[in-house]
Amino acid sequence: MIAPKPPRATNRGERTVTVLDVGTSKVAALIVLLGGSAGGGDPRVIGVGQRVCHGVRRGLVADMEKTESAVRAAVDQAERNAGVQAGEVYVNMSAGGLRSEVETVEIDIGGHRIADTDMGTLLAAGRARIDPGNRTVLHAQPALYAVDGTFVANPVGFHADRLGMDIHIVTADTPPIRNLDLAVRSAHLGVKTMVASPAAASLAVLAQEERDLGVALVEIGAGVTNIAVHLMGQLVGVASVPMGAGDITNDIASAFATRRSHAERLKTLYGAAITAQKDNHDLIEVPPISDEEGVEPTRVPRAQLIGVVRHRLDLLFGEVATRLPQLGFAGPQARQVVLTGGGAEIKSVADFAQGLLGKNVRVGRPRGLTGLPDAQGGAAFATLAGLALFAAEDRPDLWNAKIAASSAKGPVKGSGRLQQMVDKLRSSL
Ligand SMILES: Nc1ncnc2c1ncn2[C@@H]1O[C@H](COP(=O)(O)OP(=O)(O)OP(=O)(O)O)[C@@H](O)[C@H]1O
Ligand SMILES: [Mg+2]
Repeated sequence: MIAPKPPRATNRGERTVTVLDVGTSKVAALIVLLGGSAGGGDPRVIGVGQRVCHGVRRGLVADMEKTESAVRAAVDQAERNAGVQAGEVYVNMSAGGLRSEVETVEIDIGGHRIADTDMGTLLAAGRARIDPGNRTVLHAQPALYAVDGTFVANPVGFHADRLGMDIHIVTADTPPIRNLDLAVRSAHLGVKTMVASPAAASLAVLAQEERDLGVALVEIGAGVTNIAVHLMGQLVGVASVPMGAGDITNDIASAFATRRSHAERLKTLYGAAITAQKDNHDLIEVPPISDEEGVEPTRVPRAQLIGVVRHRLDLLFGEVATRLPQLGFAGPQARQVVLTGGGAEIKSVADFAQGLLGKNVRVGRPRGLTGLPDAQGGAAFATLAGLALFAAEDRPDLWNAKIAASSAKGPVKGSGRLQQMVDKLRSSL
């Protein structure tokens, strides 16, 4: 256990939050300062911690002890950095078969002006519509409101007959959530909220305009690739593919009979997604797998290494190309793709993806925090930064928030704009 820290002086209205990214290759923690006298400024990073983690496979906790000790060490480092003790943490969930859907509810207003009590009734009706079965709800956030079928940002004060709301619901398998919760709690930390990784990463790397026009985020981690589709400014679909940049490392290790640590180095130093003419002539040294003396390193053309990288990227983006239309990403609003996660740092991967997907593709790195050290400024830290932005945003959640009991009017299944659009795109497949 760590020694208690002296409380850090905070100004009125300031609060600190701790966020934790439990990934397949690393665990990272941030302590950030929110609010305060300056008001709406960016969250400020005051503590950072990071540890390599060998306890997570494809985003799932596979070794409780290793995960717990990496979590404890990363948070401990962030606490020492910040001079505050971490409270309950926001932690990401990036596997467990993330799934999302859009539900719509509508209530009768009878021509009156919509009041706060009507909003309470609507939220309660929305909550009543959510039926996760044996899965666990991670998020259930109001996406769009409609007043007599017209989309409005805030319906309070409008005269209307009907008030509708689209809710975006993200669910995951229950056992992986329980295991992650257990690993974090075993490290003597409370879990405040679990956040779907692609929802967090989206906040850190996508511009509002991109979300308005339609965009798909593809976060390539070490073990998992997550996809998040945004239409009309809202997150409308998430999916996770159990493949990532760690598979490229494994492919290189087996293709050239070398250790994974060497393969990782070769990938980051010489790997790329597109071959240049001279790569046929560039020879790179591959250390042998055995430690025996006298075993010489082999030399392979760089083009051959790139061939291995490309083969895996073909598989990965082939899978992404299949999933995107299933998530409603099709047609004129499906032109922009943003890559993030450590895998987005592979050289020329955006050009490769652009060719394969036939969309505009850029790499997104985290924005929106002040004081994020350069070492955590790369695409691998999009989820971590996004968790802090998620905490700062503090959006209402129908499932996790306490909402007044359902009203006598009762919910009616409606058909909101967002749902209609996503349904239309999916059915046009
Ligand atoms: N500069 C780089 N070039 C190539 N690959 C890189 C680079 N930087 C990071 N990576 C790769 O990105 C992966 C790590 O990404 P990230 O930190 O996003 O994953 P993670 O969060 O640990 O895992 P996951 O999200 O899948 O659970 C590793 O496979 C690493 O090799
Ligand atoms: Mg990750």
